[in-house]
Amino acid sequence: MKAVTGWAVVTGAGNGIGAVITRHAVKAGYRVAAWDVDEKAVTALAAELGASCVGTAVDVTDEEAVNAAMAALPEAPKLVVNNAGVVRFGPLLDLSVADWRAAVEVNLTGTFLVSRAAARRMIDAGGGAIVNISSINGIAAAPNAGAYTASKAAVIKLTEHMALEWGDAGIRVNAVAPGLINAGMSEPIFADPEVRALRQGRVPMGRLGSADDVAETVMYLGSPKAAYVTAQTIAVDGGITASALHKMPRPASVDSVGVEADSR
Ligand SMILES: NC(=O)c1ccc[n+]([C@@H]2O[C@H](COP(=O)([O-])OP(=O)(O)OC[C@H]3O[C@@H](n4cnc5c(N)ncnc54)[C@H](O)[C@@H]3O)[C@@H](O)[C@H]2O)c1
Repeated sequence: MKAVTGWAVVTGAGNGIGAVITRHAVKAGYRVAAWDVDEKAVTALAAELGASCVGTAVDVTDEEAVNAAMAALPEAPKLVVNNAGVVRFGPLLDLSVADWRAAVEVNLTGTFLVSRAAARRMIDAGGGAIVNISSINGIAAAPNAGAYTASKAAVIKLTEHMALEWGDAGIRVNAVAPGLINAGMSEPIFADPEVRALRQGRVPMGRLGSADDVAETVMYLGSPKAAYVTAQTIAVDGGITASALHKMPRPASVDSVGVEADSR
C-alpha cells in the first residue's frame, strides 16, 4: 500500500492504546504529533520512533494549550485521533464531583477542544479525518462506571454531530468503541486470572482484544479506504456488545425450525 504523507495528531499517545496507535500511524507513513500530559512517556516514545514522531506535553482539557499545539503544526493534520482518556469507577451515589468532572473533562471536553482546533485547520486545507476513541461503555452501561459511561456515550453523539457540521468541508468524523482490551487502563483488571477468565468467557470470540486490534480500525477509518464513511461508531469488541442473548438457553421443544413435523 502507498504510504501516506502528512501529519497525524494522537492524544494520550504516551501509554497503552495511544502508543500503539502512534506506532501504526508512523508505520503507515504519517509524521505523528504525539500529545500527552505524561511528558516523560511521550518523550520516550518520540525518542524511540525518531524523526517521524514529535512528543509534546499537551493537556487536552486546556483550550489554550490545545490551540497552541495545533497552531504549531507546520500544516493541517490529515488525521486526528482523540485517544486521551481517564476512568473513574464508583457508584454514582458516592462518586465525588471531582471524579465526575475528570471523566467528562478529559473524555468529552478534551475530544471537543482537540477536534475543533483541528477542524479549523482542516477546513482551510480541504478536509481530514478525526477518529474518537469511545468505549463499549458508551454503548452498554456497566457496574460502577456511570461517569465513564456517560462521557463515552457523549463522545459517540459528539462524533455524529461533528460529522454533520463538518462533512461538506471534507472532514470525516468517526468513533471506535474498544471492548475488553488487554492494554492500558484495563491491564490491572486482567492481571487477576479469575476476573480475566470470567470476562474473556463473555466475549463471543472467546478472547480479549489487543491495542493492535483497536489501532487497525483507527487506521482504516483514517484512510482513503473509508472515504465515504462518516458519523459511525465501530465497536472493536469481539462481539460482546451484541451478546446480550449469547448462550441464552432455549428448550429443544421450541427450537425446531426446519425439523419435519412427523419426526418431532
Ligand atoms: N484499555 C481498555 O480496555 C479500553 C477500552 C475501551 C476504551 N478505552 C479507551 O482507550 C483510550 C486509551 O486508553 P488506555 O487503555 O490506553 O489507557 P491509558 O491510561 O494507558 O492511556 C491513556 C493516556 O491518556 C493520557 N491522558 C490522560 N489525561 C490526559 C489529558 N488531560 N491530556 C492528554 N493526555 C491525557 C494518559 O497520560 C495516558 O497516557 C481511552 O480513551 C480509553 O477510555 C480503553
